[in-house]
Amino acid sequence: MKQTYFNIPGWFNYSETYDIIVDKIPNDGVIVEIGSFLGRSTHYLATSLMNANKEEVKIYCIDTFEGSSEHANIKLPKDFSSIFRDNLKFFIGRNMVHVLQGRSDDSEILEKIEEASVDFMMIDGAHEYDNVKDDIINWWPKLKPEGVMFGDDYSLKSVELAVKEGLGMCNHRTYGVNKGFEQTWYCAKDGENMIYEKKIPGVNTLI
Ligand SMILES: C[S@@+](CC[C@H](N)C(=O)[O-])C[C@H]1O[C@@H](n2cnc3c(N)ncnc32)[C@H](O)[C@@H]1O
Repeated sequence: MKQTYFNIPGWFNYSETYDIIVDKIPNDGVIVEIGSFLGRSTHYLATSLMNANKEEVKIYCIDTFEGSSEHANIKLPKDFSSIFRDNLKFFIGRNMVHVLQGRSDDSEILEKIEEASVDFMMIDGAHEYDNVKDDIINWWPKLKPEGVMFGDDYSLKSVELAVKEGLGMCNHRTYGVNKGFEQTWYCAKDGENMIYEKKIPGVNTLI
């Protein structure tokens, strides 16, 4: 199946991270994506899973579909969930993509995902310090013991600080950062962070 995610507007520059997830996830795995916007990243991920014959993987997309503070100057409909659903209808129809509309810190959303049930998480919702820190602390228990949490925009000071403190509060002070274009951070629950470095040459640091 051809990739067509680039026809969907959005902010998605972590395709290498999603390639690693697709490579490592078992066919009955679970992925949670916080911050899906119109579906650009989700569409890339779902298409890649399909191409890897991993159609049983479930992707839970959590979004208010109301935008973030940094989108204040962009004209968006008040609730753009229908645009997301339309963009992802092929994968929603195949039970690969599941929409959980609401805030990522809403207890009703959190209750929908069992503890220790998630293989991989991507945190790309609101990028303010409090939001990122809350996302890490609230969602860390949802990861399986061998699960890995990823997040975008480590270049933002608010994200860097939130990652340091949030992971520290989960007793996981060691994490990795793919510097360069992507700026994703990652932390494996079992501490095996090195294997999540980029597969292509670039600058990697393990903090
Ligand atoms: C940077 S965009 C995500 C980009 C997306 N991954 C893509 O491929 O275009 C951030 C998204 O987070 C959502 N968001 C902001 N605050 C949120 C919150 N507290 N809970 C859930 N979603 C939130 C916004 O509605 C927005 O769609």
